Amino acid sequence: MKGSSCKLLILLLSISLVTSQRSCLDEFLQCLPLHSNPSYPIANAIHTAHNASFQHLYELHAVNLRILSSPSTSKPLAIITALHASHAQAAVVCAKHHKLQLRIRSGGHDYEGLSYTSDVPFFILDLFNLRSIKVDVATETAWVQAGATTGELYYRIAEKSGVHGFPSGVCTTLGIGGHFSGGGYGNMMRKYGLSIDNVVDAHLIDANGMIRNRKSMGEDVFWAIRGGGGTSFGIILSWKIKLVRVPRKVTVFNVQRTLDQGATDLAYRWQQIAPKMPKHLFIRLQLEPITDATNGNKTIRVSFIGQFLGRAHRLVQESNSKFRELGLNLSDCKEMSWAESTLFWAGYPNGTSIDTLLQRVQGNKVFFKTKSDYYKKVIPKQGLEMLWELLMEIGNVFMQLNPHGGRMEEIPESETAYPQRAGYLFKTQYTIHWTDSDGGIGAAEKHVRMSRRLYRTMASYASSNPREAFVNYRDLDIGSNGSNDTDFSVARVYGTKYFKKNFMRLARVKAMADPDNFFKNEQSIRPLPSH
Ligand SMILES: Cc1cc2nc3c(=O)[nH]c(=O)nc-3n(C[C@H](O)[C@H](O)[C@H](O)COP(=O)(O)OP(=O)(O)OC[C@H]3O[C@@H](n4cnc5c(N)ncnc54)[C@H](O)[C@@H]3O)c2cc1C
Ligand SMILES: *[C@@H]1O[C@H](CO)[C@@H](O)[C@H](O)[C@H]1NC(C)=O
Ligand SMILES: *[C@@H]1O[C@H](CO)[C@@H](O)[C@H](O)[C@H]1NC(C)=O
Ligand SMILES: *[C@@H]1O[C@H](CO)[C@@H](O)[C@H](O)[C@H]1NC(C)=O
Ligand SMILES: *[C@@H]1O[C@H](CO)[C@@H](O)[C@H](O)[C@H]1NC(C)=O
Ligand SMILES: *[C@@H]1O[C@H](CO)[C@@H](O)[C@H](O)[C@H]1NC(C)=O
Ligand SMILES: *[C@@H]1O[C@H](CO)[C@@H](O)[C@H](O)[C@H]1NC(C)=O
Repeated sequence: MKGSSCKLLILLLSISLVTSQRSCLDEFLQCLPLHSNPSYPIANAIHTAHNASFQHLYELHAVNLRILSSPSTSKPLAIITALHASHAQAAVVCAKHHKLQLRIRSGGHDYEGLSYTSDVPFFILDLFNLRSIKVDVATETAWVQAGATTGELYYRIAEKSGVHGFPSGVCTTLGIGGHFSGGGYGNMMRKYGLSIDNVVDAHLIDANGMIRNRKSMGEDVFWAIRGGGGTSFGIILSWKIKLVRVPRKVTVFNVQRTLDQGATDLAYRWQQIAPKMPKHLFIRLQLEPITDATNGNKTIRVSFIGQFLGRAHRLVQESNSKFRELGLNLSDCKEMSWAESTLFWAGYPNGTSIDTLLQRVQGNKVFFKTKSDYYKKVIPKQGLEMLWELLMEIGNVFMQLNPHGGRMEEIPESETAYPQRAGYLFKTQYTIHWTDSDGGIGAAEKHVRMSRRLYRTMASYASSNPREAFVNYRDLDIGSNGSNDTDFSVARVYGTKYFKKNFMRLARVKAMADPDNFFKNEQSIRPLPSH
């Protein structure tokens, strides 16, 4: 239903607005040089369908083929690859004046592609050229521009220090702009919290095109941009972060068990133990259906992927005293520098050069649909067994369960906009993924349907009232509105699932900082109505 009304809208648009769109675009493009620093000619940053660079740039940082290759995905009228902060400021001033929708893109990992598509005429402000990273070991801080990736950040820290790191995502191609906006979690979450828990300042372009820092944006806006999701409060130009201390050697492992090897009992125990482990031990659970090579039967493989901020022999001691059933031994463990461990987590083989962290774009893109849940209770064994059956039936699916606890429990829910703190065992993502050989874009509907079925099946075990979701795992199924609509009751539905009680404060801050709702997308924060 939602799909067809959306298509209708786009059809109407393409017939009646084609001419007005074009003149609106021309006026917008002519406006840009008038509002940007002439020492950095903005013409070098403007790409429209007439420039040969357009298609390549559009696709370069668009991660999900389900969105990128869908015929119903509308393309931008222009891509502005900002080369200077004033280009981003001009984009705001001119977009506002010429009523053109702005989409902000840093790394393009948005699960629903909201940084590179829209249901109304729009342009992309692409920030990948703004990616300087200034690490200051003396003060243990860094300024990181929005277009930098997590991998680039890890590399630049390691270049300066072997005993510092930063708690953010497992994937090394995430854009810092979008990733931190939604919280940013990774394998140091239990020790140091989320990325936003270690952000101390930011530069933000507001709805008037002004650059603000923490002091001039005020504590309310600074609170909102830490976890309130990208887009709603302005354009993040850069974050100032506090580095964290890591040992010279950390230890990682990936221990895998199938159903025949007791995976069900272990997955059941993991739920009770992993959120209560010492802070310096993080064990992710990854679940996926596989074919058992020994007998050709389908089974479930449960991977226990761990990071220990210390040496292997201590890890084995701690693991065996708290999670004896896993049977972790020294030969499962790999010691390495923290920077090398980020490559391990990103799936690269041992021995991969650290320079790989500088590769901004991941090789083979897939089609995917992801949904998320938070769990406060242990999934009982019969629930796991039901889950195994469904995963084996679906086939192209994996789940990741990331334990909370530790530092996450110590931070109050209202400290930042990200509310899921004490009382959560783990967060989960369910990802259905496929390739061209599985039917490509033509098989999208089928796979999305399967993701919804899996999600329904887990309803009785996951958090409820509301059934919470993680904004960095964006999912339009949990409620959304047209990017041009301002219906607050709709926004409250998805807003409460992502942000719980913090949603109302986010809506108040939005009403203050951007009352005209300039910064928007299908799931942005709408201004709290004034009555
Ligand atoms: C393979 C993969 C692995 C992932 N792993 C993790 C993980 O380990 N931990 C985790 O927390 N998340 C993870 N994510 C989710 C990821 O954090 C989010 O998708 C995040 O929004 C990506 O940021 P981006 O800049 O790359 O994406 P974009 O698509 O560029 O942006 C995401 C959203 O933020 C907005 N936005 C982007 N830049 C800015 C800016 N500068 N100012 C304001 N708004 C902006 C966009 O408009 C969009 O709405 C993963 C995603 C993928 C695809
Ligand atoms: C795109 O084409 C226009 C018109 O020819 C030109 O002014 C602009 O500089 C081009 N953009 C880039 C990045 O070269
Ligand atoms: C696995 O395959 C073997 C050989 O085909 C079969 O005998 C056995 O019952 C299967 N096991 C399960 C658990 O399905
Ligand atoms: C360590 O555990 C692995 C399985 O995880 C096993 O194959 C190996 O034999 C064990 N090694 C020792 C020394 O116990
Ligand atoms: C990783 O690879 C290096 C060589 O690149 C090798 O010397 C080292 O032993 C390997 N470490 C482990 C834990 O496999
Ligand atoms: C936005 O929400 C309103 C109220 O539910 C609905 O009427 C409208 O169709 C929605 N718009 C889109 C594009 O989903
Ligand atoms: C979006 O909203 C603007 C401002 O209210 C309006 O001018 C424009 O026509 C709307 N566009 C669509 C497609 O609804």
